[in-house]
Amino acid sequence: MKKKIIGVILATAMVATLFTGCGSKTEEAAAPADTAQEEAAPEAEDAAPAEAADAADATAEAAGGDLASKKVGVCIYQFSDNFMTLFRTELENYLIAQGFSKDNITIVDGQNDQATQTGQIDNFINDKVDVLIINPVNSSSAETITDKVVEAGIPLVYINREPSKDEEQRWADNGWNVTYVGCDARQSGTMQGEMIVDLGLEAVDLNGDGKIQYIMVEGDPENVDAQYRTEFSVKALTDAGLEVECLSDQVGNWQQAEAQQIVANALGQYTTDVEVVFCNNDAMALGALQAIDAAGRKVGTDIYLVGVDALSEALENVLAGTMTGTVFNDHFSQSHSAADAAIRFINGEGNDNYIGCDYVKVTQDNAQEILDMVK
Ligand code: GAL
Repeated sequence: MKKKIIGVILATAMVATLFTGCGSKTEEAAAPADTAQEEAAPEAEDAAPAEAADAADATAEAAGGDLASKKVGVCIYQFSDNFMTLFRTELENYLIAQGFSKDNITIVDGQNDQATQTGQIDNFINDKVDVLIINPVNSSSAETITDKVVEAGIPLVYINREPSKDEEQRWADNGWNVTYVGCDARQSGTMQGEMIVDLGLEAVDLNGDGKIQYIMVEGDPENVDAQYRTEFSVKALTDAGLEVECLSDQVGNWQQAEAQQIVANALGQYTTDVEVVFCNNDAMALGALQAIDAAGRKVGTDIYLVGVDALSEALENVLAGTMTGTVFNDHFSQSHSAADAAIRFINGEGNDNYIGCDYVKVTQDNAQEILDMVK
C-alpha cells in the first residue's frame, strides 16, 4: 500500500478561510505564507493493487491471526451521506476479510451531531474496544476526542475529515497511537478545474466575453475537503491563464436536494451567463443536474458540470455526457488503509500520523473503467 507523509503540505484545518460567497472572502485568520495554500497539489502516483494486497495480508498475518476476537468501533458522521455509505460498507467488508468477526465490528451513525457522536465514543470506551475508527462530525472536535480516546489507551484512526495540522503534530510529539487516513482535497479541486481547462476557452466561454462565469456549490464549510475543492478548482483555471467570474458560491452541505435548490435559484438569476457549475461532490452535482435539466439547459452544449466522488450515478452521467466529469474519491484505498492502520495498532506497531491516497480524474474516456470498479 503506497503511503505518503504529507504532514507539512496538509496544513489543512489551520487554514480557517471560508470560501463561501464569491471573491474568496476571508472570514478568519488566513494561513501563514509557508503553509498549504502555497503548495501545489501532490502528483498522482500509480495505484499498486498487488503491492497493497500483499502488504495487507502481511499486516493481518502479523496480528497473529487472533483478529476475530478484537473489537472495532467505527463512528461515521452521518449514514445518509452517499460517499460515506460506500466507505463504511467497504470498510466493514475489508475488516471481515482481514479476519475480524462481523459481530465484533460496531458501526454507528453520528447523525451529523457532534454531541451524539461523542456519546457513541464514550460508549465504545466503556465497552473497551481494541481500536476506534472515527469520521468526526466536526474536525475541530478532534482534540477533545483524541484526549479521551488516548486517555483510555485505545488506538485511534481518523478518516475522511482531517483534523488540523497542529492536532496531527500533537500525536507525533506525544508518540500517541493516532493517525489520519485520507486524500488531499487540493488534488481533487485541481482535477475538477483541469477538466474545464482541457475543454478550451472557446468551448466553455459560451457568452464570448473572454471570461469563465461559474457557480460554486460547497460541502460542509468546516470540512477542509470543501474549502480546498472550492479554492483549487478555480485556481486551476486561473493558473491556466483563464479569467474567471464567480456568480454565486453557496453551501449545499454535500446534499443533493440543497444543491438542486441553490443551482435552480442561480440559474434563474444568472440564466445563460452560467457557463460552469462546480460542485464539491457528486451528490450535489446530481442535484445541480436536476436543476440544469429543469431549466432546459444541456450539459456539454450550453453549460458544464463537474463533481467529486465518482458515485455510480454520476459516472453514468459522465458516460452519457450529462456531466462533464468527476473525480474518483477512492473509498477502496481509504477504507483498506484505515483498516490496515487499525490492524497495525492492534499488533503493537506504529503508524505514520498521516496516511494519504490519490484521487483519479474521470472523464468520458475512463468513466466506464471506474464504473466497472465501483459497481
Ligand atoms: C468528502 C466526499 C463528500 C462527503 C464528505 C463527508 O470526501 O467527497 O461526498 O462524503 O467527504 O465528509
